[in-house]
Amino acid sequence: MQRDAQQRPRRLRRCQLSVPGSSEKMMSKAAAMDVDFVFLDLEDAVAPAEKRPARARIVDALNGLDWGRTTRCVRVNDVTTEYAYEDIIEVVEGAGANLDVIMLPKAMSAADVQFVDKLLTMMEIKLKLPHRIGIDVLIEEVEAMMNVEAIAASTPRLECLIFGMGDYSASQGVSVRDIGGSGGYPGDIWHYQRHRLTIAARANRLDAVDGPFADFRDPDVYLQEARRAMILGMVGKWAIHPSQVELAQQVFSPSPDDVARARDMMRAYDAALAQGLGAVQYDGKMIDIASIRIVRNLVERAALIGM
Ligand code: COA
Ligand code: MG
Repeated sequence: MQRDAQQRPRRLRRCQLSVPGSSEKMMSKAAAMDVDFVFLDLEDAVAPAEKRPARARIVDALNGLDWGRTTRCVRVNDVTTEYAYEDIIEVVEGAGANLDVIMLPKAMSAADVQFVDKLLTMMEIKLKLPHRIGIDVLIEEVEAMMNVEAIAASTPRLECLIFGMGDYSASQGVSVRDIGGSGGYPGDIWHYQRHRLTIAARANRLDAVDGPFADFRDPDVYLQEARRAMILGMVGKWAIHPSQVELAQQVFSPSPDDVARARDMMRAYDAALAQGLGAVQYDGKMIDIASIRIVRNLVERAALIGM
């Protein structure tokens, strides 16, 4: 597991922006944005009649646009549809060298992810691709939540688990009016699902990401949902509209003050160790090796962002 984890590229996923693959205009707009991760969608944002033509538009966008530092991903249709295998074949044959990640929706089991893994392996050999294409998986069915530990361990190619609360609400029978809203439930309606998914992800050295919030004119609730996800250990949240990108990238970036404090605390702990002490006072509170493990997460995140 340790070795597999080391093979995984480390990518920023503070925000994953969803862009309909049928829209050349929105794809151009997305390429020009300063966002960590974009996924060009062939699934729910694209009407059935547009799914086949959208593949060629996505290939053109991947090959023709300047994506800068943004990670380029395509969300394919799920493996129970007539589209999934051709989605992968057309996009990877057409633009494999300019594609970083395939996103698989509605995975139910480890076998669903392994199907995509094996297909990508065959294509990488045939096409002599210079890099390995990663897989991000959406956990958005009750079956997937029950199998999330097995899905998380399904293949070293897997990089990230995403909690998709829209389809998940339908799957569990949860009654919410807007995707990602609380439906008036007291407290955090997604506490259990986010926790369980994040534990499975972290145990396999994967990223955990929070899914969409449909009411893009309500930044306050978006921020609240993003903060809940961040505190639990998730590394980012989806945006479905450009106005949500900066909000997510702020929430999932540690503040310069917190980074400076974390580095200072690590120095204080090292000084304590040099004196033979395992626990000392810092800022009037006890710190020990567990405190250091907590702040090390923050320092590593800051390094990845380049802070
Ligand atoms: N990616 C890139 N650009 C986007 C965008 C997105 N996800 N959503 C909106 N834009 C663009 C619009 O094209 C518009 O561009 P313009 O100013 O040049 O005309 C601008 O941002 C402002 O958009 P706005 O007018 O506020 O909204 P809209 O009616 O054009 O689009 C949605 C609203 C919801 C239809 C659109 O945001 C969307 O399709 N989002 C993604 C949906 C999706 O991917 N769903 C599946 C995952 S849950
Ligand atoms: Mg979905």
